[in-house]
Amino acid sequence: MFPISLSHIWIIIFASSIFLYIFKCITNEKLNSCYESNLADEPKDKIIAKSQNNGSNNNKKQPETQRKSKGNPEIIAMDSAPDSVETSSAFRPRSTQEEFLSKNLMSVIPAPDMRKPYCDKSEALTDENILSDPFELFHIWFEKAKQNAGKHTEINAVCLSTSYQNKPSSRMVLLKGYDPDQGFRIFTNYESRKGFEIEHNSNVALLFYWEYPQRQIRIEGQAHKVSESISDQYFNARPKLSRISAIVSQQSQKIDSRKTLAKRQEEEEKKWTNCEIIPRPNFWGGYHIIPERFEFWQGQSDRLHDRFIFEKSDQKSWFHYRIQP
Ligand SMILES: Cc1cc2nc3c(=O)[nH]c(=O)nc-3n(C[C@H](O)[C@H](O)[C@H](O)COP(=O)(O)O)c2cc1C
Repeated sequence: MFPISLSHIWIIIFASSIFLYIFKCITNEKLNSCYESNLADEPKDKIIAKSQNNGSNNNKKQPETQRKSKGNPEIIAMDSAPDSVETSSAFRPRSTQEEFLSKNLMSVIPAPDMRKPYCDKSEALTDENILSDPFELFHIWFEKAKQNAGKHTEINAVCLSTSYQNKPSSRMVLLKGYDPDQGFRIFTNYESRKGFEIEHNSNVALLFYWEYPQRQIRIEGQAHKVSESISDQYFNARPKLSRISAIVSQQSQKIDSRKTLAKRQEEEEKKWTNCEIIPRPNFWGGYHIIPERFEFWQGQSDRLHDRFIFEKSDQKSWFHYRIQP
């Protein structure tokens, strides 16, 4: 019989531990790469939630705060340690795209020191200083935003939301006039996506935001085409190149390349070389949005913001009330 000494036993134990260690490493690597390739197909917010679980239980229900924070970077920042994505052992992005996505996610999470102080109590919209006419208040706020605008800030840039078959869509446009009778005026291509949506559903919303003095105005109402003469007047006041671009662009339609667009522009420019008067195409013109509801929002540093709603009591007059921030 082969004699087994104590030193043989130690050698066997040592060799088996090395074998077990190598085996564990290989299987772990396989599991990780399989998990990572699954993550590549997941939406970003799910990736954050998973990375917070540190890979210990991937089927765990997402924490309430994470589910609530979907699409809201501020909530994500408050509820998660900012470096959780990078330090998670389960989530190690393999491809450049994944790496970019994870880095990009990090950069959009606002750090606490990015919180800006809002205006002080002296700028609060008090129950005493609120005006009874929303157009007057809009005008005062618009003028104030104008005074504080930076060199490149377009304070008349406004987000216009439309809705078709219960699906909303938003885009920026430029406000080109406002008054209590005609509402808020914008110009565009009537055959664009927004034009199509307005034709089918005239309920629209406008959203202004002015960084200083931290004000937001929401307007909801009905969009109607302005008169032909108003559209002509505005079209003729635009620079020649802008008028040509309006003719050239079949806004919101597919096109194969920028080259095709440039070619069309060149042809149109040639057509009008010696001519300053270019007729407005009938697919281009203005809308006026007659408001039915306004909300004036004044930001406050303590986040106890001021909000006032204006609604129509009849065709001409408005009533207002305060709502909670
Ligand atoms: C600051 C800003 C101002 C804009 N102003 C207008 C405008 O006045 N009219 C317009 O048709 N598009 C304007 N656009 C382009 C629109 O956002 C949008 O791309 C275009 O109207 C097509 O939208 P639609 O496909 O939803 O119809 C502006 C974009 C920006 C960023």
